[in-house]
Amino acid sequence: MKEYFKVDEWKVIEEGFDPHYNKVAESVFSLGNGRMGQRANFEEAYSGETLQGNYVAGVYYPDKTRVGWWKNGYPEYFAKVLNAANWIGIDVQIDGEQLDLAKCEVLSFYRELNMQEGYIKRSFKAKTALGKEVGVEATRFCSMVDDECGAISYTITPLNFEGELTLTPYIDGDIVNKDSNYDEKFWDEVSKSVSNDAGYVQLRTKKTGFEVATAMKLVLVQDGSAIEFESLPVEKEKYIAAEIKVQATAGKSLTLYKYAANLSSQNYDKAELAEKALQRVETIAAKGFDAMLAEQAAAWAEKWKHNDIIIEGDAKAQQGIRFNIFQLNQTYTGEDDRLNIGPKGFTGEKYGGSTYWDTEAYCVPFYLATAEQKVARNLLLYRYKQLGKAIDNAKLLGFKDGAALYPMVTMDGTECHNEWEITFEEIHRNGAIAFAIYNYVRYTGDDAYLTDYGLEVLIAISRFWSQRITWSAAKEQYVMLGVTGPNEYENNVNNNWYTSTIAVWCMQYTLEVIGKVKQADSGKYATLAAKISFEEATETGRFEDIIAKMYFAQDEKLGIFLQQDGFLDKEQILVKDLPAADRPLVQKWSWDRILRSVFIKQADVLQGLYFLEDRYDIDTIRRNYDFYEPRTVHESSLSPCVHAILAAKLGDVERAYTFYLRTSRLDIDDYNNDTEDGCHITSMAGTWMSVVEGFAGMRVKDGMLSFNPLLPDEWKALSFQIGFRGSLLNIRIAKEGTTVKNLSEMDVVVLVNGEEISIKGKGEMLVGS
Ligand code: BGC
Repeated sequence: MKEYFKVDEWKVIEEGFDPHYNKVAESVFSLGNGRMGQRANFEEAYSGETLQGNYVAGVYYPDKTRVGWWKNGYPEYFAKVLNAANWIGIDVQIDGEQLDLAKCEVLSFYRELNMQEGYIKRSFKAKTALGKEVGVEATRFCSMVDDECGAISYTITPLNFEGELTLTPYIDGDIVNKDSNYDEKFWDEVSKSVSNDAGYVQLRTKKTGFEVATAMKLVLVQDGSAIEFESLPVEKEKYIAAEIKVQATAGKSLTLYKYAANLSSQNYDKAELAEKALQRVETIAAKGFDAMLAEQAAAWAEKWKHNDIIIEGDAKAQQGIRFNIFQLNQTYTGEDDRLNIGPKGFTGEKYGGSTYWDTEAYCVPFYLATAEQKVARNLLLYRYKQLGKAIDNAKLLGFKDGAALYPMVTMDGTECHNEWEITFEEIHRNGAIAFAIYNYVRYTGDDAYLTDYGLEVLIAISRFWSQRITWSAAKEQYVMLGVTGPNEYENNVNNNWYTSTIAVWCMQYTLEVIGKVKQADSGKYATLAAKISFEEATETGRFEDIIAKMYFAQDEKLGIFLQQDGFLDKEQILVKDLPAADRPLVQKWSWDRILRSVFIKQADVLQGLYFLEDRYDIDTIRRNYDFYEPRTVHESSLSPCVHAILAAKLGDVERAYTFYLRTSRLDIDDYNNDTEDGCHITSMAGTWMSVVEGFAGMRVKDGMLSFNPLLPDEWKALSFQIGFRGSLLNIRIAKEGTTVKNLSEMDVVVLVNGEEISIKGKGEMLVGS
């Protein structure tokens, strides 16, 4: 863990420039607006360590799989959201010498991410090798209002010289993905043009044929007014620029405004893209930087009004949660049902911007409580629409009769992860997709979803489990062999408790939903059964037999569920006994050593106890928690949040607080030494859960919200807003008790510490602690 950035409740601040942290800072200061996103690369040239990243939502490339030894059933491609044209670039030459912080003496450096208003600001003073000193102030944002646009204000002040200053704002589409499997470039040029103060580049992705037009418009300001300029237009392959030369005077500042738009053929006709992109930059330039920034602040104020979590008395904890909520809002707005949430959002290439089980297991609860119902519903429909491909995917692996295996990683429904342990074995993802349906219906009460979409998915998933689970004559029970559980530090294990449990739960839930749907609309049920050739008696008979006779690994003496058969044969050492120099294991140990060790990457048995907590008594949860937590290294970002929730449930406020800080500050403090690859966006929804489900103990019980608050000593109070079935509540938990404020007109009943509380529309109630 590092404490590189300064603590502030609304900002992340970097003071002084440390090139070793540059890639971490580029991730942490990333900007996005759901449609496009941008790492915090510098506008001017930088020849030091950097990971360039500009992303346009939904624009991806199926990169041909590269593995050491090909195996049947491997997906052909790994789809990745592409690094797209660089729209932020402004090259700066001072009397012919390039401004490049890697080659300058950095006299001062300050950067802040303003989360309240949604922008980054950077200022520095630097001295070039030839002794020229300049001051720069750059502000940039991806507009939430004009959501395909970004804007930059770049002010440069010569400090100790007179001479020629050349500013060359450009759009560069000659971009590579660092993770390209065959060092291929993924973009072809379609067209480009550049004039004195505007230009665009239109590019097409290879294979997928997406087109993106990136346009810029330039305005130069000195002494408060726009100045005329004559630029030299530059065109190269996939690149345009406008070279602007000015005579610089010491102490006199010059501001370049660069307005940019990224329009994709997903939303516009290809033939109109360039024209529309050019029109768009004209429109935003006419609006002006300050007006755009004011709109940005207002848009963020509106978001914070609904999404903010206020932690009083603990700035570090406050900064952590706001950073997570800020990044989630930058990544996914829920406005486009074709999009989903990549584990790194728009902050890096890792995980290819694709959809993982993270969405269902971690993100759905956040959107259920903080956004309109249709947002979570869209996330569910995304999988519904990909059901056909999930059935094809299962077929490819030898399953039949409509069994569906959803991919572990996908962009369009096809599997595109290319490690066998994950593609073929990490099948628990199917369970999370079914669980999200349950979670959505439990939260919203939208039973119609089950009839219209949910049941079809549930039957297909249950069909898969019923074929994947086999009969053991030796045990005279059903078993599930050769799987990888959520703990990816073990592969090809037998009877992973989590996977078996979620599989059996899926079949039980499917049976329950069949009953519900039949009762609600027998006609629709019959149509569905005919459509998918559902042999109800035989198939449900098989589900029931498995439910009755499934084997679950457990240890009677310890009173715990076993992560998998043979788990106790491992050498039982604990994380606290590992030397610090060995962590993170994934960077320090051989893979073979990791696989054989007892160390657990992320919640596995505990993930199951979290999802299905109502089935287990508190002592069972405690015994398993006490056994598994000390063996868990939390090297997946998805781990600490689940541990925080369970610790809070067990009343262990100290451990819950430690895990909360770890999950909420994972990227700011670079806990796992990997933030340089990008931020852990999907686990940020888990951070939200660790507060709302952890400290506030929020659950849905019999169609009502229920709270069991637990406040860390470090916090004076905790408050947040929750939308639930048409009502809007503000919850404030303090030492003196919990205040529930009903912000809606309708009357509401909630449970606080098990007690039913009725609150009239617009009313509020304090429940003593
Ligand atoms: C975790 C997976 C997760 C993936 C993407 C991996 O490190 O083990 O559970 O789906 O990251 O976040």
